[in-house]
Amino acid sequence: MAQLWGGRFTKETDTLVNDFNASIMFDNRLYKQDIAGSIAHAQMLSKQKIITRKEKDKIVAGLYEILADIDEGKIVFSKEYEDIHSLVEATLIERIGDTGKKLHTGRSRNDQVALDMRLYVRDKVIDTDFLLIRLMRTLLKIEEDNLETYMPGFTHLQKAQPVTLAHHLGAYFEMFKRDEDRLNDLFERMNYCPLGAGALAGTTYPLDRKYTASLLDFKGPTVNSMDSVSDRDYLLEYLFDLSVIMMHLSRFCEEIIIWNSNEYRFVEIDDAYSTGSSIMPQKKNPDIAELIRGKCGRVYGALEAMLVTMKSLPLAYNKDMQEDKEVSFDAIDTVNECIILFDGMLNTISFNKDVMKKSAANGFTNATDAADYLVKKGVPFRDAHEIVGKLVLYCIDENKSIEELSVSELKDISSDFDEDIYESISLKTCVENRLTDGGPSPEKMKTVIDKYKNYLDDITKVMQKKGGKNE
Ligand code: ARG
Repeated sequence: MAQLWGGRFTKETDTLVNDFNASIMFDNRLYKQDIAGSIAHAQMLSKQKIITRKEKDKIVAGLYEILADIDEGKIVFSKEYEDIHSLVEATLIERIGDTGKKLHTGRSRNDQVALDMRLYVRDKVIDTDFLLIRLMRTLLKIEEDNLETYMPGFTHLQKAQPVTLAHHLGAYFEMFKRDEDRLNDLFERMNYCPLGAGALAGTTYPLDRKYTASLLDFKGPTVNSMDSVSDRDYLLEYLFDLSVIMMHLSRFCEEIIIWNSNEYRFVEIDDAYSTGSSIMPQKKNPDIAELIRGKCGRVYGALEAMLVTMKSLPLAYNKDMQEDKEVSFDAIDTVNECIILFDGMLNTISFNKDVMKKSAANGFTNATDAADYLVKKGVPFRDAHEIVGKLVLYCIDENKSIEELSVSELKDISSDFDEDIYESISLKTCVENRLTDGGPSPEKMKTVIDKYKNYLDDITKVMQKKGGKNE
């Protein structure tokens, strides 16, 4: 076994113990971050004259070679090495000899793993952020095309008042906008470098932590060395942010599943994003939407698992923290994949505008507007509500909609009804007159969309500055 801590031991580790203790099987995905951190550390050690320039050059060249070999699959992640930090260091020593043994001067695996995970999460936060921006662009595009696509708005999954597809999708835009904003905040809060905290109490070497932090594009070093090695708050925050994204996606997926049902037929999911049944030839199932909805569970699970793992841990580093990786990696992969798939599904979905409009036109979605009509004629709202309630009951008996009633039928219920009622409760009027800020009128929605186009361009630039290569 290629352990880095053999000196104090007289016996070999039991194989089961070795395997149980090892994290190389899953933390190998941190190799790029681990090597980047080691290169920065070596540069700082040389700047501070803790190692010579020559030694630094040898170490850095060796690390680059290891990086290339891992990239090309030439290095096996064997359990003989406990974790990625041990593998990289042991391989370096194997290749360049004694100079390699100087790399770990003034460093511990505790601050090393804290750094690696933070670098990894920082990159992933940017990835998720860009995926959300892309999804928001898709939403805006569909909104723009559907400013006047009428559909029923629901409460309790019962038809309530007419809205537009643009307005409905605009609600999701707001959710993803908040999600993106949360990631942006998280990036700022977590962007500090823990390297140099040592095992827990810093070190007696004259490290320049500010320099290391700047080499790795951090805002600066973390403040307290004990906190630096035992803080996983940023990961918890990310998992929370990911959970909220999944919650939003799952609500959207649920609606798409309902809209795609034979009863609704508001949308048709593209063939490329649907699946068939092995027994029922007629079926076209919304599996992707269902899977995204279903995958919520494992992401919430990761957040819960990490909260419980961190609960009651005494300062500073404890091996429990190694448990942060598998669940987090799974959650991160899952969410990023779900956003990509969801975006693809949304980009190719077709909306049955006629069906949506028909649906908006029945089910008494204009009942509130009929009451508001009476209010404008001087009837107090509570009385108007009562009158229109009776009107709806009458319509149900007659199997008619409000606008199908004649003026005399309407007058039988309230003398305040007149010829102008039809215009006042038409679908178009109901939507266009909802001019409140935040309302569905096409005029209002267009202003919002125009503003958001610039907003998306602005936040794209902000994230690019933060190190994102995307878009
Ligand atoms: N594999 C460990 C982890 O993921 C690295 C840190 C180990 N430190 C230690 N003192 N055992 O947390």
